[in-house]
Amino acid sequence: MDDTGAGPILILGGRSEIGIELARRLAPEATVVLAARNADRLDEQVAMLQAAGAAAVHTQEFDADDLASHGPLVASVVNAHGPIATAVLAFGILGDQARAETDAAHATAIVHTDYVAQVSMLTHLAAVMRQAGRGSLVVFSSVAGIRVRRANYVYGSAKAGLDGFASGLADALHGSGVGLLIVRPGFVIGRMTQGMAPAPLPSTPQQVAEAAAHALAKGRRTVWIPWALRPTFFVMRLLPQFVWRRMPR
Ligand SMILES: NC(=O)c1ccc[n+]([C@@H]2O[C@H](COP(=O)([O-])OP(=O)(O)OC[C@H]3O[C@@H](n4cnc5c(N)ncnc54)[C@H](OP(=O)(O)O)[C@@H]3O)[C@@H](O)[C@H]2O)c1
Repeated sequence: MDDTGAGPILILGGRSEIGIELARRLAPEATVVLAARNADRLDEQVAMLQAAGAAAVHTQEFDADDLASHGPLVASVVNAHGPIATAVLAFGILGDQARAETDAAHATAIVHTDYVAQVSMLTHLAAVMRQAGRGSLVVFSSVAGIRVRRANYVYGSAKAGLDGFASGLADALHGSGVGLLIVRPGFVIGRMTQGMAPAPLPSTPQQVAEAAAHALAKGRRTVWIPWALRPTFFVMRLLPQFVWRRMPR
């Protein structure tokens, strides 16, 4: 059972830079479950959460692409640690846009992880949280999905789909006691974007996590990081297509 009584914090994609930064902020006195591929190689992340004051840190093998495993994983976390307090869907891949433009298997692999697997996991989590009458979901969208750019349209389309699904799910959960936060970062300087020139208004995993933790505590529905991206993308949506087509990644 849960070591604290408050319900576990489940990080799906337990090696994600942003996910771990958010977990550190939620960890004090909490039970944290890190679900990741190669769960036997999470020592660094476990140590970080213990140092952040977690009451207990558990690891769990998780491959997001294996949709059939989602239901049993959620059930096993609830059985072992009690109703989930917060689930953070931190897994995702950027993929190789150039390759995805001609390699249909790669294009669908990106969409499978970044959209289909998220839809599957969110549906399982929402069902158990709705039954418990409480819980919070954290979804990582991206400005890449707000208006999809030619330069990263495969990843962008998955994020557009995810953002739409999460918005609808948040409305469906209204009044159920379950909250859903959509996090919309811009370019984040970190492992996922290693070697890429930062886009305007970049942020760090720490800044994204700080803003997400704050929005979660306030019960917000969306958070943009940095906040200035919201008005920026309001204007970006109005740009004519011949300009938008040339926008860099
Ligand atoms: N970084 C950015 O610029 C940026 C901007 C906007 C939104 N986001 C979104 O924020 C979220 C977190 O990103 P991040 O920056 O923390 O990236 P990250 O450090 O690269 O973490 C992504 C994690 O997803 C995991 N993952 C990928 N495919 C998986 C699968 N099939 N099963 C299980 N785990 C899988 C990876 O696991 P392994 O360790 O096993 O590879 C990795 O730990 C993602 O949804 C991302 O799209 C990121």
